[in-house]
Amino acid sequence: MKSSYAKVSLVAMSLTLCSGAVLAQQPMTDQGKLEYDTNCAVCHGPGGKGDGSLQPLLRVSATDLTQLAKKNQGILPVTRMYEVIDGAGVPSHGSRDMPIWGRTYQSENAQNLLEARGNYDAQALVRARILVLIEYINRLQAR
Ligand code: HEC
Repeated sequence: MKSSYAKVSLVAMSLTLCSGAVLAQQPMTDQGKLEYDTNCAVCHGPGGKGDGSLQPLLRVSATDLTQLAKKNQGILPVTRMYEVIDGAGVPSHGSRDMPIWGRTYQSENAQNLLEARGNYDAQALVRARILVLIEYINRLQAR
C-alpha cells in the first residue's frame, strides 16, 4: 500500500517536472513589445524613432519616442506618457473624451477577459498593459 502511494507520488512528481521543463522551453512573450508592435509601430516606427509606415499620411509627425528621456533631463516622463497613452491631449491619440488606446484596451478587456475570467479588475488590466508598454519604450531610449 505504502509503495503504491510512493509510486503514484513519484509519477505525479515527474509529471510536474516534465511540464515545468516544457514550459521553460517555450520562449517568453515580451508583452510590452507585443503591445508596441501591434498598436504603436505603424506611426512611431518599429524602433520608436517616429518613422512608422503611416508617417507620410500624418499631419503631425509622430514623436521620436527614443528621445523622450533625453529631452526630459534623462528621466523618462512616465506620468505624461501614461496620460498620453490613456488618452489625454495628443490629437492623434484622441482626446480625454475619446481616448483611442485607453478605450481600445478597455473594450477589449470587457469583451475578451471579463467574461472569460469572471471576477477580476478590468481597470487593473488596463493599467498593466499601459505600464508594460511604458517599460518597453524605456528600453528603446537613446542613451
Ligand atoms: C495614428 C498614429 C499614431 C499611433 C498609432 C500612435 N501614436 Fe503616439 N503619437 C502620434 C503623433 C502624431 C504624436 C505627436 C502628437 C503631437 O505632437 O501633437 C504622438 C505622440 C506620442 C507620445 C509623445 C507625447 C509627448 O509627450 O510629446 C507618446 C509617448 C506616444 N505618442 C506614445 C504612443 C504609444 C505608446 C502608442 C501605442 C499605444 C502610440 N503612441 C500610437 C501618433 C500615433
